[in-house]
Amino acid sequence: MSRTVKFGIVGGYGATGKAVVSELLKSGDGEILLGGRDGIRLEAAVAEFDGRVSTARVDILDTESLDQFCSRCSLIINCGGPVKLLQDRVAHAALRARCHYVDPAGLSFVKERMLAYAQQIADLGLSFVVSSGWMPGISELLPVHAYLQAKAQMDSIESVNVYFTDSGEWSDNALRDAAFYVRKIGFPKPGYFHKGVRAPCKLSEATRKIDLGNSIGLRQFSLVSMAELDDVGRRLSDCNFATYSYSSGVRTTAAALMIALLPLSEKFGARLTRGIFRRSQLPVAGFVVAHVAGRAKGRSAVLKSRIVFEPGRDYWINAIALATVARMVSAAKGVIFGVHFLTEAVEPAALMVELRKAGVRQSEIFELCDQCSIRCPTREHGGNLMSVPGRWITKQTGDMVYTFAENRWLSQLWLDA
Ligand SMILES: NC(=O)c1ccc[n+]([C@@H]2O[C@H](COP(=O)([O-])OP(=O)(O)OC[C@H]3O[C@@H](n4cnc5c(N)ncnc54)[C@H](OP(=O)(O)O)[C@@H]3O)[C@@H](O)[C@H]2O)c1
Repeated sequence: MSRTVKFGIVGGYGATGKAVVSELLKSGDGEILLGGRDGIRLEAAVAEFDGRVSTARVDILDTESLDQFCSRCSLIINCGGPVKLLQDRVAHAALRARCHYVDPAGLSFVKERMLAYAQQIADLGLSFVVSSGWMPGISELLPVHAYLQAKAQMDSIESVNVYFTDSGEWSDNALRDAAFYVRKIGFPKPGYFHKGVRAPCKLSEATRKIDLGNSIGLRQFSLVSMAELDDVGRRLSDCNFATYSYSSGVRTTAAALMIALLPLSEKFGARLTRGIFRRSQLPVAGFVVAHVAGRAKGRSAVLKSRIVFEPGRDYWINAIALATVARMVSAAKGVIFGVHFLTEAVEPAALMVELRKAGVRQSEIFELCDQCSIRCPTREHGGNLMSVPGRWITKQTGDMVYTFAENRWLSQLWLDA
């Protein structure tokens, strides 16, 4: 069979699959093959697109049909789900057929399992980019991009803090994967990365309030761990790295605890996860914000970078990341060979430029201390103060080390200093 197709979309009529095809059709060229196991749904989906898109039946659980599908393509975008059930089958088939491979969520195992073939994949001149959607995906890209931008403007970097949330109306399959992931990692001891090494912190330091300004405002966040973000933390060996997700209240925490600790049915776990997403509703549908603090010209400096998206654009932002990465891989532009998560595989600045061109709203400001809008003794401007009378407090996330006395006025003196 000849390899006339550039992009093969497995799980093609699913929510991510269809959004990816729309994005691929907006620019670039090359035939697109839409793969799924239901012929009627395939035909209905392809009717929405132009002549560059054709269809093929493929069942991910049937190796023969998967191999046949992949052998017609040069790059596979795996939009099949739930990944917890389909596992790493598509990635293996892509390797057998000598295709590049991109997916939106490798959970905790696709990259790990494919690493055994990383050398072979690199020698074949192939790129396997795992977890390149919105979250994971853009949620790591933004902090890495911000860190690199700050590095060019600061003399030293002290901390990178990431804040994110999402109130996406995700599919049942996506929620099943999210619940699976929460259960898999359980409820790890809260921590952050100190110069590339994970360090625990006190329970009392696991949450913080911070004003993220424009359209987000003052919100409560909790430290979280995610394989892809942790991978970034391990690579940033010259500063602290902490990742926080928005916690909308006690019910959210209780639901997350239940998912992590109780042997719930898959359906119930997915329902609780949907509740968490819905309760996370803010004026925007989702955001990632990165604050990089350091020193520049002998003064404290901070670079604040953010991406937000509006309600109803969840699958758009997920697909734009996948389609953009797939195009870069296909054009061999700013992408390395082998098996990697997004920010290691793709040159962050080049990817950000492409995402902006595609309509992603990313903004960035750089402030030296005396220009800061919010006066604050923390390294990270806008950080919330913690006051525990009569005790020294070391905020181990590295973004602040300060003291309070029993009297509030002393704290104020410090603020005014
Ligand atoms: N990074 C991110 O931000 C992000 C966001 C959303 C989703 N995701 C990930 O992407 C995955 C897909 O999400 P989604 O929301 O697009 O899910 P979805 O709408 O349910 O689509 C999943 C697709 O996979 C297909 N599929 C399932 N089993 C198959 C099989 N054996 N053979 C062939 N096709 C099969 C389904 O077809 P049938 O209907 O025929 O079963 C469906 O078309 C999720 O599971 C999640 O892990 C990541």
